[in-house]
Amino acid sequence: SLISTKQMLLKAQEEGYSIPAFNIHNLETIQVVLQAASDLKSPVILAATPSTVKYAGEEYLLAIIEKASEINNIPVTFHLDHHENVDDIKRIIALGCKSVMIDASKHEFKENVEIVKDIVDFAYSYGATVEAELGKLGGVEDDLIVDEKDSFLTDPNEAVEFVKLTGVDSLAVAIGTAHGLYKSEPKLDFDRLEKIRSMVDVPLVLHGASGVPYDAVQKATDLGICKVNIATELKIPFSSAIRDYFKENPDASDPRQYLVPAKKAMYDVVVDKIKMCKSENKA
Ligand code: 13P
Ligand code: ZN
Ligand code: NA
Repeated sequence: SLISTKQMLLKAQEEGYSIPAFNIHNLETIQVVLQAASDLKSPVILAATPSTVKYAGEEYLLAIIEKASEINNIPVTFHLDHHENVDDIKRIIALGCKSVMIDASKHEFKENVEIVKDIVDFAYSYGATVEAELGKLGGVEDDLIVDEKDSFLTDPNEAVEFVKLTGVDSLAVAIGTAHGLYKSEPKLDFDRLEKIRSMVDVPLVLHGASGVPYDAVQKATDLGICKVNIATELKIPFSSAIRDYFKENPDASDPRQYLVPAKKAMYDVVVDKIKMCKSENKA
């Protein structure tokens, strides 16, 4: 069933695991994530970036996920990921979306606060959960491209101020991860995370989890992360399997055939990531 992201995250925070947030793109990726989550009895967040909303349409996404959450007997939320357009966010909340990330992290502190506060105030009357980011991740997430030299880590003192001034429900922190895969193994700043966690009580979110080793994500979870965002590592096996299928079957044309191995390949990764988050049997 569809439940509140805030409640989901607070339970995870209290019990010491993370909620996996998987970026979905279409019916098939929604089916795969929910099948895996349902098989493992894990709560799950289905995340849609602006490109996904543009591609699939918010009304289709809302309707499909609402229905899917009825069919699968696990806690599910539909979440807008890295949305920057305030009007789009408000419109989609008004249509029924209960969970959003307003990403104003490219702005200066004061402007970030103002933009986030505006969304928090709006979301409140709809009972929607709001995530914001302080600090800035490097890497590529759909249309959001941040050069490594322009990325910066979250300052713990600023994080305290930010949460107090905005009233945000959860905070995405920059502690050394980046969107996409890594050239070499990422070094996470666990001391920084620990410090932020000791000073800020709202649930903390780890973006850019693709390519981050299992044990680093688990250590981050032990130190206070309770939502883990995963996109790239799901897209790669899905598309590789389609490529392989067409290599073997160059004349294939039936999506109900060539998408089957793609779904299977993605399913296995989703299962693996749920285990990494230790959210199995927490539904
Ligand atoms: P990755 O693509 O590195 O998994 O990042 C996902 C993410 O942070 C989505 O918001
Ligand atoms: Zn992200
Ligand atoms: Na990543």
